Amino acid sequence: MSRSPDHAPGGLGRLWAQRLFDWFDRRYQIAGLIEFLRHKDVPITGMSFLYYFGGIALFLFVVQVVTGVLLLMYYVPSADQAYESVHNIMAKIHFGWLIRSLHAWSANLLILSVMIHLFSVFFLRAYRNPRELTWATGFGLLGLVFAFGFSGYLLPWNQRAFFATKVGTDILGQLPVVGTFLLTVLRGGEEVTGATLGRFFGLHVAILPGLATLLVGGHLLLIQRQGMSHPAAWLKQPPEQRRSMPFFPNFLARDLLLWFLILNAVAAVAVFWPAELGDKADPFGAAPAGIKPEWYFLSQYQVLKWMPARIGPISGERVGILAMMFAGLAVFLLPFCDRAVEGDPRRRWLDFFGVAAVTGLILLTVVGYVSQ
Ligand code: HEM
Repeated sequence: MSRSPDHAPGGLGRLWAQRLFDWFDRRYQIAGLIEFLRHKDVPITGMSFLYYFGGIALFLFVVQVVTGVLLLMYYVPSADQAYESVHNIMAKIHFGWLIRSLHAWSANLLILSVMIHLFSVFFLRAYRNPRELTWATGFGLLGLVFAFGFSGYLLPWNQRAFFATKVGTDILGQLPVVGTFLLTVLRGGEEVTGATLGRFFGLHVAILPGLATLLVGGHLLLIQRQGMSHPAAWLKQPPEQRRSMPFFPNFLARDLLLWFLILNAVAAVAVFWPAELGDKADPFGAAPAGIKPEWYFLSQYQVLKWMPARIGPISGERVGILAMMFAGLAVFLLPFCDRAVEGDPRRRWLDFFGVAAVTGLILLTVVGYVSQ
C-alpha cells in the first residue's frame, strides 16, 4: 500500500505549512523576502564570538521595550506621585519588583553590549567601505542608549536621581553655544523640578524609543542588504578553506539560544539583587554623600574631575567637554577617514588606538568608582 505524503512523518504539518506559505506568497510575494533573509552568511573565524554582541544588544533592546511597556501601566510621571507609583510597583503589583529589576539590569547590560559591539566592529574593521552608514546608524544608537540611561534614571524621582540629574544637566549646560538653551529645554526652566520629570518621561517613553526603532530598523536593513563583512584573516585563506554558516536559520538559532540564556541570567540577577528605590527626592535636602553617575558615565565624570578650574580664559570643565566631543566626532567619522576597503590588512596601528581606548575607558571607570 502506498502512503500519501499526508501520512509521511511530518507530512500533514508540512502540507499545511506549505499551504499557509503559498497563501501569503500569492498575496505578498514573501518568497523574495525569505530569499533576502537567507542570502547573508556569517564567516567562521577564531573571532566569530564577536558577531554575537550586535544580536545581544538587539535582544536586550526588545527586553527594554517589553518591560518598559509593563512598567508604564503603573508608573505616574508627576513629582507628587512618581516615587509612590514606583514604590507601589515594587511592593504591591504582582511581579512588579521583577519587571522593574529586569528593566534596570537589562539596561546596564544593553549599554555594555553596545560598547563591546562597537569595539568588535572596530577591531574587525567591519566599519570600512561600504559599511560607513551601518557605523553611522550604530553610532547614533550608542548616543541613544546613553540618553535612555540618563533620562530613565530620573523617573523614580528619588534623592539620588534628583541630584544626579542636577549635576548631569549642569554639565550639559557647559556646552558652548547650545549649553544654556539645552539646559533650559531639558529642565523645563532653570531648576530640576516636576517639569524636568515630565520632559525626561516624554523623552524616555516616546521620543527616544521612536528614534531608536527607526535607527535599529535602518541598521538591520543595511546589514541584511550588504551581508556581514569579511575579516582580512578570513579573506587571506584560500577560497576552499574559507568557512561560513548561513545566518538564516543556522546563526539565528545560536542567537536564540544565547538570548534565552541571557534572559535567564538577567532574571537571576534581578531576583537576587532587585533594583533599589532609596528616599524620595527632596529639592531642599542635602545631596546624598558620595553621589556618582552610573558606571557608563564614570569615565567622562573622572576626566572632568581632573580638569583644572581654568585653562587660559576657558573653564577647565568646558575644555574637557569639548575634548570629549571631538573624540566622539573622530569615532563617528572613522569610516570616512579610514578609506581602506573591507579585507585590507593595512593600518594595523589602529589596533593600538583601540587597545589604548578600551584600557583607558576601563581604568577611568575604575578610578571614578573608587575615588572619593
Ligand atoms: C542598540 C544598538 C545596536 C544594535 C541593536 C545593533 C545591532 C547589530 C546587529 C544585530 C548586527 C549584526 C551582527 C553583528 O555584527 O553583531 C550589527 C552589525 C553592525 N553594527 Fe551594530 N548595533 C548597535 C549599535 C552599533 C554601534 C554603536 C556601532 C558602531 C558605531 C555599530 C556598527 C555596526 C556595524 C558596522 C555592523 C556590521 C558588522 C559586519 O558587517 O560585520 N552598531 N549591529
